[in-house]
Amino acid sequence: MSYANETRRRRTFAIISHPDAGKTTLTEKLLLFSGAIQIAGSVKARKASRHATSDWMEIEKQRGISVASSVMQMLYREHVINLLDTPGHKDFSEDTYRVLTAVDSALMVIDAANGVEAQTRRLIEVCRQRDTPILTFVNKMDREVREPLDILDEVERELGMPCVPMTWPVGQGKSFAGIINLRTQAMTVFEAGSERLPQDFESIPLSEHETLLKRFGAEYESALEAMELATGASPAYDHAAFLAGKQTPVFFGSGVNNFGVMEVLDALVDLAPPPQSRKSTVLVNRQPVEKEIQPEDGAFSGVVFKVQANMDPSHRDRIAFVRMASGKYTPGMKLRVQRTGKELRPTSVVTFLSQRREAVDEAYAGDIIGFTTHGGVQLGDTITDGASLQFTGLPFFAPELFMTVILKNPLRTKQLQQGLAQLGEEGAIQVFKPDMGGAMLLGAVGQLQFEVVQHRLKAEYDADVRLESSQYTGARWITADTPAELKAFTDAYPMRLAHDAADTLAYLCTSPYDVRLAQERFPKIHFHPLREHA
Ligand code: G4P
Repeated sequence: MSYANETRRRRTFAIISHPDAGKTTLTEKLLLFSGAIQIAGSVKARKASRHATSDWMEIEKQRGISVASSVMQMLYREHVINLLDTPGHKDFSEDTYRVLTAVDSALMVIDAANGVEAQTRRLIEVCRQRDTPILTFVNKMDREVREPLDILDEVERELGMPCVPMTWPVGQGKSFAGIINLRTQAMTVFEAGSERLPQDFESIPLSEHETLLKRFGAEYESALEAMELATGASPAYDHAAFLAGKQTPVFFGSGVNNFGVMEVLDALVDLAPPPQSRKSTVLVNRQPVEKEIQPEDGAFSGVVFKVQANMDPSHRDRIAFVRMASGKYTPGMKLRVQRTGKELRPTSVVTFLSQRREAVDEAYAGDIIGFTTHGGVQLGDTITDGASLQFTGLPFFAPELFMTVILKNPLRTKQLQQGLAQLGEEGAIQVFKPDMGGAMLLGAVGQLQFEVVQHRLKAEYDADVRLESSQYTGARWITADTPAELKAFTDAYPMRLAHDAADTLAYLCTSPYDVRLAQERFPKIHFHPLREHA
C-alpha cells in the first residue's frame, strides 16, 4: 500500500470526558467491537486497580499502567484506529492536555444526566484553540436523564458550535426504547445487557410507522416531535464544517449496554479526519520559514508529545511517545533528534496494540510509537530521518496549582536542581524561580503531579523535599511590544515575577481578578495562558 493509502486509513483520536461519564466503558466497547480485545472487563479491571489505593508503590504501578493504557491501536473496517487516553481523576495532568496535540479529532463523552462537566470543559478549550473536530456521545440514556433537547442546548453553548444529531433517543431510563438513526432512517431497539453485539439489536425502518407506534406508543411519538424540533433548529451535517471544528455530530446511547456505540465507531471511520498536515519551521538561508509537513511525505518525521520515565528508578530510561507526522517507520532506521542533531539510539521501539506493547514492524503518519532511550530526548523534540525541521505548537499550559519546594537537607541542593531540571524537561511538572529569590515554585494542573515529583525526587535523586502550599493560583507568560513597556510592567510587579525552566518570564497571580486588574493597568502587555515549546 502506498504512503497515501496508509495514512488515509488512519484515525487518531482522544476521548475526552469528566470522570464517571463512561469513558472507560466506551473505550472497552470500542476495543471489543473492533475485535482488539475478546473479553469485556479488562480495561475496567485495570481502572479499578489504578484508583484502589494511593501509596507510593501504587504511584509506581500507575506510571506503568498509564504507559500501557494511554495509547490503544485497533483495526476496524480496514482502518487503523489509534485511541489516546486523556487521564482523568487524580491523575489529571499537563499530559492530559498535551495528548490533544497528538490527535486529529476528539470524542466527547457526556453523562446525559450531568451534561457538560468541569473537566470536559477544560479539555474542550484546548480542542477549540486548535479547531480539533469533536464528535459527541451522550451516554447513559438507560438512566433517568435530562431531555435530549436540553442536553443539545447545553452542548451548543459550551462548545460554541451547533450540534447535529446523527441518532435520536426514544424514551429514557426505564422507558428507554432505542435510538433512531437519522442516516439509515431506522430505529434500533434497545435491550439491556452487556453480552449483546451490535448486529444483534433489532432494527425497524421508520417507514413501518404503524408498527413503531404500536410498539412504542407515546415515547415514539414524542421522540419524533423532539427530533423534528432539533433537526429543524440545527444545520444539516456539513462535513467541511465538522472538520473545521464548527459543528459537532451527536450520538445517543448507553455504553454499558453496548448500545449506540457501533454508530460512533462507524462515524470515526466515516467522518473523523485522517492524519492532517503539521506546521513546522525550517531554516532557509538561516532564516526560519514556516512549512506544512504532509502526512504522505515519504521522509520520517514526528514529534515527542509525552515523555514517561521508567517505572524502575534504577533504570534512568524513558519512553518518548512520538506522534508520527509523515513517512514510514521501519525497525533499525536511523533517526535524529533535531534539537541536538544527535542520533536517536533507542533500546526498544514499541507500538501500542490495545494494552499490549509490541515491537513495531512498521508505522505511518498518525501512529504513535514509543522510543525507550537513556535520555537525549525532551518533550517537544522533533525526530526525523535527516531533514532539518522543527515542529511547532506543543503547548505548555499555565499551572493552576502551586507548591513551594523546601529541601530537607540543604547539602542536596545540586541533586534537587538536577532532578527538577530533568522532571521539568519531561513535562512532569513546571518549575518557576521567583525573580526576587527564595524557594523554587512547582506548578501543575493536577494534584498527583506534585506527589509523583516529590516521590521521584527522593527515589531517583535522593533529594528529600517538603512541599508547602503557596498563595498562587495561576500564572501567565508575559510578552510586550517594546522593552520600555516591559520594564514599566516588571517595575510595577517585582514580587509577582518568576522565570520558568525555559527562562520565560511569568506573572504569578493569586486570583483571576489579579490578571484582569494587571491587564487593565497595562493594556499593552500580553498575558499568555499557554506557552509554545520553543
Ligand atoms: P469513566 O471512565 O468516565 O470514569 O467512567 P466509567 O466507564 O468507569 O463509568 C462510570 C460508571 O458509569 C460505572 O459505574 C459504569 O458502569 C457506569 N456506566 C457507564 N456507561 C453507562 C451507561 O450507559 N448506563 C449506565 N446506567 N451506567 C453506565 P460504577 O458503578 O462506577 O462501576 P461498575 O461497578 O458499574 O462497573
